[in-house]
Amino acid sequence: MTHEGLWVRFFKKSDWQLFSALPVFSCFRVTIWSLDMTFVAIISSRLKQDRLREPLLSFGKRDAFMNPGKDLLTVSGHKILFNVQASGSKVSDWALENRQELGDILLEKGCVLIRGLKILSSKQFGMVLQALFDDELIDYTYRSTPRTELRGKVYTATEYPAAETIPQHNENSYSNSWPLRIGFLCMQPSVTGGETPLADSRLVYQRIEKDVRERFERKGVMYVRNYSDLDLPWSEVFQTEDKDEVAAFCEKNGLEYHWGKGNHLRTCQVNPATASHPITGEKVWFNQAHLFHVSSLNPDVRNALLEIGGEENLPRNTYFSDGSEIPAEDLDHIREVYEALKFQFTWQRYDLLLVDNMLCSHGRNPFEGERKILVGMTTPQFKSSTP
Ligand SMILES: [Fe+2]
Repeated sequence: MTHEGLWVRFFKKSDWQLFSALPVFSCFRVTIWSLDMTFVAIISSRLKQDRLREPLLSFGKRDAFMNPGKDLLTVSGHKILFNVQASGSKVSDWALENRQELGDILLEKGCVLIRGLKILSSKQFGMVLQALFDDELIDYTYRSTPRTELRGKVYTATEYPAAETIPQHNENSYSNSWPLRIGFLCMQPSVTGGETPLADSRLVYQRIEKDVRERFERKGVMYVRNYSDLDLPWSEVFQTEDKDEVAAFCEKNGLEYHWGKGNHLRTCQVNPATASHPITGEKVWFNQAHLFHVSSLNPDVRNALLEIGGEENLPRNTYFSDGSEIPAEDLDHIREVYEALKFQFTWQRYDLLLVDNMLCSHGRNPFEGERKILVGMTTPQFKSSTP
């Protein structure tokens, strides 16, 4: 079925009546929050790492700020940890002194964990990120997960149920624009769990079997979303109550869109499955087919959603760009590759994780206890800017 054919199939039915009838299912209400690209389903309500104890480097002298690459320590077999000791105004000094070398490390490793910078506020975090990335922070628009903006374009990490896992993903890789650089700051580590697993997107690309990779590269990925009470409302995704503004965003960013009965919106977007890094030119696996696909939902939720609205009304789903089904074994294989490559560390208070969003994917483990991780993003990339 062609892309257009699938689109017609979606809208020729009186799909929206199904959503109008949803209150009937109030005793069986299913709500899905999606992540930074993942689904989490909640029914009946909205539905070991290694302890890192390496000693801190002393920062009494200015020259001790220098050369973080030389002093990188190993985390789960990956040399990405840099211990420092700086607070107050010294944090900014450290950022400015080291940003060039940290940028080089990011291009090589894809991520770096800085431990011991005492960043005490979201405002200071935003300033440090701008210094380290030498760029302005950007808004989190066209959302796939609930977040809260604090101040100065610093956000909370995805506000997702603690018991759920957020699978590996590259931020906004379902979109035609995404941040190149992301910073995470741990203000409050959880009592247990809550790690942010990481995986090298170059290795993911290389490990995925050639026939699967070629199929995805040839066909691209189509993301279909239905915005309703079952998922994030469109007003939150697009950060506006104005339908005209939503329409303008969709037209500007290559999303097909359709307003249904009531307040429902459906969008469809096709994007490449892989990308080339704008600086290194390296090929990376860069899509969220495995997250948006209905197979990422647990069977009970999946079956309930299919029963309520049918496949065409699923809050999220993915196809190849020609409208054809993505084979389940392909998606399973992709998940297995991520699982084999990911590694993690235990968050400590004030930990600062810098990520090149195209070279490194991230996720989140379930956790217990309060957990507060802040996020800031810079250096927007656009589909047309990658080869
Ligand atoms: Fe994310």
